[in-house]
Amino acid sequence: MRSFLPALAAALLVAGAAVAQPAAAPEPPGANLLPPGDGRDLAVRTCSACHALEIVAQKRLDQDGWYEIVQMMHDRGAQGSDDQMAQIATYLAKAFPATAAGAAAPAAHKP
Ligand code: HEC
Repeated sequence: MRSFLPALAAALLVAGAAVAQPAAAPEPPGANLLPPGDGRDLAVRTCSACHALEIVAQKRLDQDGWYEIVQMMHDRGAQGSDDQMAQIATYLAKAFPATAAGAAAPAAHKP
């Protein structure tokens, strides 16, 4: 039982550190639908300004298709440089790729 107290102290320290950490910025609704990846945070921020991210997450397109959508949104007023738009399109093409006809539905993304 000697190890109990240090373990408890360590647990309290960890809990204390977790509490002391500044709260992460709250993510917009639907952000949980976007899987991790390069450009993900940029997409969450940029693409949640006007509509729910569900609209983004339910689409399946190839790189060109996503680039077209992103450009369309840019024309509508989505904020970001051309570089950032390209980054978002690349991320979305990986996260929500076009499904080949007859192919199985894409594997569910981890939460
Ligand atoms: C300035 C506002 C605005 C921003 C920012 C924005 N959108 Fe949109 N988006 C719209 C509007 C308005 C519609 C619905 C009307 C339409 O499709 O013409 C829409 C519709 C969509 C659709 C559905 C279109 C379809 O054909 O099914 C998708 C997909 C989409 N947006 C993706 C994105 C992505 C990806 C981003 C981030 C790069 C984004 N949007 C950012 C305004 C915006």
